[in-house]
Amino acid sequence: MQNETLAVIGTGYVGLVTAACLADLGNQVIGIDRDHNKIARIMRGDMPIYEPGLGELVARAIASGRLRFTTDLSALRSADLVMLAVGTPSAGVDGAVDLSQVWSAIDDIAPNLAQDAIVIGKSTLPIGTGRKIAQRLQQLTGCSIQVASNPEFLREGQAIGDFMQPDRIIIGADSPGVSARIENLYRAQITAGTPVLSTTLESSELIKYAANAFLATKVAFINEISDLAEAVGADIGAISAGIGMDPRIGNRFLQPGPGYGGSCFPKDTLALAYAAREMGQPTQIVEATIRANLARGDKMLQKIIRAIGPVAGKNLAVLGLAFKAGTDDMRDAPALPILRGLLAAGAKLRAYDPKAGAVAAPLLPGLAVVDTAAQALGNADAAIILTEWQEFRDLTPADFVRQLQYPVVVDLRNLYAPAAMANGGVHYHSLGRTPCLPPATKAVRHG
Ligand SMILES: NC(=O)c1ccc[n+]([C@@H]2O[C@H](COP(=O)([O-])OP(=O)(O)OC[C@H]3O[C@@H](n4cnc5c(N)ncnc54)[C@H](O)[C@@H]3O)[C@@H](O)[C@H]2O)c1
Repeated sequence: MQNETLAVIGTGYVGLVTAACLADLGNQVIGIDRDHNKIARIMRGDMPIYEPGLGELVARAIASGRLRFTTDLSALRSADLVMLAVGTPSAGVDGAVDLSQVWSAIDDIAPNLAQDAIVIGKSTLPIGTGRKIAQRLQQLTGCSIQVASNPEFLREGQAIGDFMQPDRIIIGADSPGVSARIENLYRAQITAGTPVLSTTLESSELIKYAANAFLATKVAFINEISDLAEAVGADIGAISAGIGMDPRIGNRFLQPGPGYGGSCFPKDTLALAYAAREMGQPTQIVEATIRANLARGDKMLQKIIRAIGPVAGKNLAVLGLAFKAGTDDMRDAPALPILRGLLAAGAKLRAYDPKAGAVAAPLLPGLAVVDTAAQALGNADAAIILTEWQEFRDLTPADFVRQLQYPVVVDLRNLYAPAAMANGGVHYHSLGRTPCLPPATKAVRHG
């Protein structure tokens, strides 16, 4: 089959990566967003998000003539495939999904759709949404427009690699012909060995939620085991390695941390639990995962206070703000409740993140954002590590001892070897491991 002409509606994280990658693979792609500023920025090469390699990929695809951007919906008249990549955030705390972006996009695209176009849900859509989109399009256009589901599994920070070499491609559609058209978009990945699973619309939609809920549960589970390990003097590193050797468990996603965050796990677990309750099939495991993760922020706050003593008036260095390394995304970042708690308790916070400082600053009034790790650490009373950036992994015990006023480090990402930190003179507190105190150090002020 040949290359496709497609439109991607919504050029946020997923839409922009999808549009650029599909253009790079040889398709004619038009990225459409209602946000004029975003489109203007993308067109002048100023990426609205930080994602490694994205600026170069977009520039290359634009230069090839295969990628264009616009706010003008009439541009999609020529598109055979229309991918929806708009946001599907939580509507409220109960987990219901706010589908306003989806419905406004459907209303907007309907008058401009080619009759034989296929509309593909790339956004994470609640189970049943694909079918409702088909009904709505039927009402609006008077035609029976084919609707399919093709959920995206990319990880922020590795989005291009994940799109180009995915673990799997999931397609939900009512007809083999529609599935085949979507498979054709991914023929490079499929030729390279990526498996494809073609199924129904509902199954495809539920696969996405179930995958995220399972991963979130793995994170919440290892965090609980980590707390237990710490309480009994065991080592979470050994435990993760030991259980991860069982291929039924797998060795990934077994690192303890400050809780899962980001733009997907929190809202998708809530949405799955909500949908399950609505269907009279409550998911006790996912509900427990959500509760455990919500409690994590306060647990981390108490851990920091136990390690440092009362924080009122103390100068604390914060290394990392983004919900994970490799992105500037602050959506539901675990740093937010922890730092809000520290600020409310009277701590003075100087924070550095290689990419997320500007995004984080308005979310955390009172937080001083600085430009380097050294500026954050200089003369602080203790350091708190919140994101696993490589730049922080590269810090040595001597860096902390030299720069901090008191060499206390609370590491919520387990970036360092406890013995090396202690031998280097650092009072080191991490997760699921016994706190390591140096044989002889400068006095540490507690209280
Ligand atoms: N971010 C991720 O890592 C990730 C990974 C997998 C799946 N997803 C899913 O992909 C979807 C998109 O997520 P995102 O992080 O890219 O969201 P985002 O908020 O970054 O981007 C959404 C974009 O859609 C645009 N938009 C909204 N309504 C529009 C309309 N009517 N017409 C045109 N443009 C419109 C917005 O302006 C915005 O640019 C969500 O369903 C999300 O759950 C996200």
